[in-house]
Amino acid sequence: MRVVHVDAEVLAHKRSGGHHLVTLVAPGVAELHRPGTFAELTLGGPHSDRLTRHAFWILRANPSGTYGGTVELLVSERGPGTRWLVRAGPGTTVPLTGPLGRPVARPKEPVPGPGVALEVGGAATLPLAARLKERGCVVHVLLGARTEARLHGALDLRRAARTVQVVTGDGSVGRRGELAEVLGGVLDQQAPDVVYAAGPVPLLRTAAAEAEARGAWSQLAYAGPMPCGTGHCQGCLVPVVGEDGIARHARACVDGPVFRGDRVRWDEVGR
Ligand SMILES: Cc1cc2nc3c(=O)[nH]c(=O)nc-3n(C[C@H](O)[C@H](O)[C@H](O)COP(=O)(O)OP(=O)(O)OC[C@H]3O[C@@H](n4cnc5c(N)ncnc54)[C@H](O)[C@@H]3O)c2cc1C
Ligand code: FES
Repeated sequence: MRVVHVDAEVLAHKRSGGHHLVTLVAPGVAELHRPGTFAELTLGGPHSDRLTRHAFWILRANPSGTYGGTVELLVSERGPGTRWLVRAGPGTTVPLTGPLGRPVARPKEPVPGPGVALEVGGAATLPLAARLKERGCVVHVLLGARTEARLHGALDLRRAARTVQVVTGDGSVGRRGELAEVLGGVLDQQAPDVVYAAGPVPLLRTAAAEAEARGAWSQLAYAGPMPCGTGHCQGCLVPVVGEDGIARHARACVDGPVFRGDRVRWDEVGR
């Protein structure tokens, strides 16, 4: 897949609950974006001493806006890099490479398939749900967050999905609980052929097991650290079993970031 590197420019920034929506002018990237691919940004400005780059899902891609191609990111403030990004004013230059990774595998025929998303995982789920709907699939979404303020995308997802169920840790909106606890029950209700999930590793592991237990196929978006994003640093290794049945490590940034759940050796992730 073609990848471009641009000095993107911050166009706009707004708060969305506990997250930030950052729009960047990034000509070429929006045109090439496919669900499951991501962008790597160099954060901190030209004098930053941070060597690693930062991965983000592309929430929305607009190839032909007034300002040229733009991409919108949903940013959760975590540490120095994201703190800098959400404070970068309009016109700030942000080196950006993308789209990176392999697009998520989508069914050739329409199938009923629910997506599962947790917090910033929503940024990965929204474009995918829209594409699945275009392809005639019935999409059910289970969306989770710690609190209502951390939840994003439920309204937009309602346009793409037949049902959107919400779970929050504190019960401030939707059902109270954890996604991993309610997932099995939702899969029993919807009986999907395919389960798509984004979120932290324990959730992905549960999604893989629950899908497999019901004979469903799973496509799981791994979002662990990706220092380079281009396959060179080996900083994103995921233990997998290859199609030949041999255990090996895959580089999440180029072989993923979306993996078949039954191919990942979950006991060894992060060791
Ligand atoms: C493919 C991919 C897509 C991503 N998409 C998004 C997105 O759409 N929106 C978004 O806000 N973030 C996303 N992330 C995570 C984002 O890259 C990190 O939050 C960011 O790099 C943190 O940089 P920092 O300097 O702010 O914090 P750091 O100083 O690097 O870290 C601060 C804290 O956050 C934790 N942390 C850092 N990176 C991650 C991570 N990848 N997963 C879990 N915890 C982490 C660290 O352990 C530490 O405790 C994505 C990551 C990947 C790999
Ligand atoms: S992030 Fe460097 S090889 Fe994957």
